Amino acid sequence: MCGIIGYTGHRPAVPLVMEGLKRLEYRGYDSSGVCFVQNRELHVIRAEGKLKLLEDKLAGREVSLSTTAMGHTRWATHGAPTEDNAHPHLSCYGKLAIVHNGIIENYQERKNDLLSKGVRFSSETDTEVLVNCIEDELKPGLSLLEAFAGALQKAHGAYALALLSPDEPNVVYAARQSAPLLLGIGAGENFVASDIPAFLPFTRDVVFLEDGEIVRITPTSWEVFSIDTLQPLEKKPQRIEWDLQAAQKGGFKHFMLKEIFEQPRAIADCMSGRVNLERLEVSIPELDSADAPARLRVIACGTSYNAGLWAMPLMEQWAGIPTTVEIASEFRYRNALLSPGELALVISQSGETADTLAALRIARQQGCPVLGLCNVIGSSIAREADMVVFTQAGPEVSVASTKALSSQMVVLLLMALYWGRKKKTLDRETLRQALRGLAALPTQLESLMPSLNDEARRMAARFSSCRGMFFLGRGQSYPLALEGALKVKELSYIHAEGYAAGEMKHGPIALVDPEFPSFFIAPHDDLFAKSKSNLEEVAARSGPVIALTNPPKPGMELRGGESWILPDAWGPLSGFLMLPAIQLFSYEAATLLGKDVDQPRNLAKSVTVE
Ligand code: AGP
Repeated sequence: MCGIIGYTGHRPAVPLVMEGLKRLEYRGYDSSGVCFVQNRELHVIRAEGKLKLLEDKLAGREVSLSTTAMGHTRWATHGAPTEDNAHPHLSCYGKLAIVHNGIIENYQERKNDLLSKGVRFSSETDTEVLVNCIEDELKPGLSLLEAFAGALQKAHGAYALALLSPDEPNVVYAARQSAPLLLGIGAGENFVASDIPAFLPFTRDVVFLEDGEIVRITPTSWEVFSIDTLQPLEKKPQRIEWDLQAAQKGGFKHFMLKEIFEQPRAIADCMSGRVNLERLEVSIPELDSADAPARLRVIACGTSYNAGLWAMPLMEQWAGIPTTVEIASEFRYRNALLSPGELALVISQSGETADTLAALRIARQQGCPVLGLCNVIGSSIAREADMVVFTQAGPEVSVASTKALSSQMVVLLLMALYWGRKKKTLDRETLRQALRGLAALPTQLESLMPSLNDEARRMAARFSSCRGMFFLGRGQSYPLALEGALKVKELSYIHAEGYAAGEMKHGPIALVDPEFPSFFIAPHDDLFAKSKSNLEEVAARSGPVIALTNPPKPGMELRGGESWILPDAWGPLSGFLMLPAIQLFSYEAATLLGKDVDQPRNLAKSVTVE
């Protein structure tokens, strides 16, 4: 997620914008820049890396006369994190400057159109295309507001934008579609920003923009219009009482909870540009240059390993690709043999995990091509892999991985569909069901989250004092059981075992007693009957049971234990509803026990050493 701040008012704008960007640093970024209007000219300064490097470039520049400026911290999605790709971007003829958070899906076709008109580009970004689309709309007699709206009506995707023009030196334009943007209303000054912390020291009066809204602010006025009709819209400012730290967490108590609740957005962003529902197509351009692999060797650590395990049956059943999944720290020391035609798929949110990086290098040394699945552009794994696909989940601040997992699962599911279509092993009905279900998921999950949180809090209150617990599941619920146990261990420090439910009778059931609860992940899939009998065996031995399952159907009622009912979902998509439930359970248990949720003891966000 990028950070945006725009300002117009009575203060020196550049220092204020720089301070605002610092208050947005928690959002994660790999380059930054500012644009200010001075002497009716646009001035753009950008830098790779941290804000200190941008400050060094600004030192000595005469900026004190400017009272209108905007700034941006970029989390790279299109193009490497270089100065050329940093925002703001100027239009080809220098009439406009823009900053952008989001992804313009149809940027390539718009770029081709502009290239045919002689427009030249200096970056790889979709954002530079957009600012030139706006300039292209600027016809005589048309206001900049109309040209801005006209360009946005042709843009598909997600955006939070701010726009400056030297012809309107005290005006900031902005617009929002599927990416957060809000106004700060001050006295003789006004702000636009991605998030409240950017301007909180100056005003607590905030206008939350909705999708499809375009804005024009001056030091003494602010107007909101519909992008489609340019009809003025009535908006009421709200008073924010948060302190700065609470604001950086979006009002959530912890980054982990914020990121759990961001999953609907992360899933939508992860699908952005990759799914065409009308044509029932999946596009993953990063994979176009190679055939589908004959075999797949998934290698990862921790939560990322669980993602790979969850996707294994999809790769085999949908794409007909024999798949094995290995823990990187084991793989790297066992002189593994990779077969001809095999592809190594290394999964890593950070892209810096030492064991996973070592596994990548071993695979490459054996001449095995490596595909990376990462969330951080420019990370070591992303740079060293032969091909890389990004989850586009935005930065994950909390040590406990949450939205990274759901976005990894989405990309892996899309890969299975993509390779299945390429190899003609996937039937069209499965493709249709999968894509329709995925497309509906963000909205469905968004509406489900509050009730999930309430139930998780209730369950955690019941079970967080136990000395230990099982997480049990079969099939694709087994990796979710491993994940649930991992989350409870790393957050609440309760010993939790993730186990294949079918393995209980081979020993672990000896642990079951009234003080040792079992958390079953049991959706109504084709293994439900088996899970049901495992669950009833545990309950019959007085083991407390939580069954995360679907509304009971005739003959599928569970005897014993307590059911946590989630809505039915098609096939593997049930995992996307089960996952937040287990994440929230671990979060609420840790909170109840007073643990440091965002920074659990002994843990680091990225394990860059063995
Ligand atoms: C998950 O909550 C943990 N933080 C940890 O298991 C993590 O998933 C693992 O270290 C792998 O990290 P990566 O995805 O960045 O490679």
